[in-house]
Amino acid sequence: MSNKSLVSITDYSKDDILSILASAADFEACPNRTTLAGKVVATLFFEPSTRTRLSFETAAIRLGAKTIGFSDAATSSSSKGETLHDTIQMVSCYADVIVMRHYLEGAARYAAEVLPVPIVNAGDGANQHPSQTLLDLYSILKTQGTLEGLNICLVGDLKYGRTVHSLIQAMSHFRPTFKFIAPDELRMPEEYKTFCRKHGIPFTESRELTDNFNDADILYMTRVQRERFTDLMEYERVKNVYTLNNAMLAGTKPNLRILHPLPRVTEIDPDVDHNEKAYYFRQAQNGLYVRQAIISKVLS
Ligand code: CP
Repeated sequence: MSNKSLVSITDYSKDDILSILASAADFEACPNRTTLAGKVVATLFFEPSTRTRLSFETAAIRLGAKTIGFSDAATSSSSKGETLHDTIQMVSCYADVIVMRHYLEGAARYAAEVLPVPIVNAGDGANQHPSQTLLDLYSILKTQGTLEGLNICLVGDLKYGRTVHSLIQAMSHFRPTFKFIAPDELRMPEEYKTFCRKHGIPFTESRELTDNFNDADILYMTRVQRERFTDLMEYERVKNVYTLNNAMLAGTKPNLRILHPLPRVTEIDPDVDHNEKAYYFRQAQNGLYVRQAIISKVLS
């Protein structure tokens, strides 16, 4: 595996994470550079995306690199039966780094092990989304002034939501306290609760959203991940389980910020968008600077 690859947030030490966040702040101050002139960044998206793909491509272009790739695997030769191995092997002949989203958990790890060029995991099934986690950390740092000792409330699809899984692992460096709010069907998997216990991270679990986040610094909402359900009847039962609205924010801490990896469906009412505590669109914008930092690190 190329030691530059970013497959899981656990590939990065605390120092690596802090270095990416510092670098992102530099890119935010001055996003247009030519440091990657002559490089080619491939974006291979076997699953749909708006933010991740476009912000990686924008990041590459703003650094002077060129981009190739596909946003829909149906337009690639995988639709003719080409294996993942052969597709990525070919693209590694053309590009200096591959940013890949794939529906199979472990696909990015596999790619990193077989390819001579670095891989950035842009989401593999319900497993990991490390670049999202780094932009989440950047957003938390910008809004709270620290990553240390925060109360973080994770809400919604904690079973299939890969962003919350990566976030727990990343925050383990910074003494967080978690509250997991989910319906029974979408509770945080045992693997991540065991991780918390092992790292001495306090957490509580609840099914109730209302009046349950007044002590939170960060309220991290997630979408119910329809594409991961094998039983669509179960999806129908839980799809509208929580909707955060403006009235529910009365009584919350002044420093509370609401994050969401987006896209949202019904879990945040649009009446929250103009509340000063809503931060999800700026969070997505932060993704550009963080992804400039990631591409620069893997190509350094
Ligand atoms: N947060 C996120 O991964 O968004 P996209 O699916 O639009 O890339």
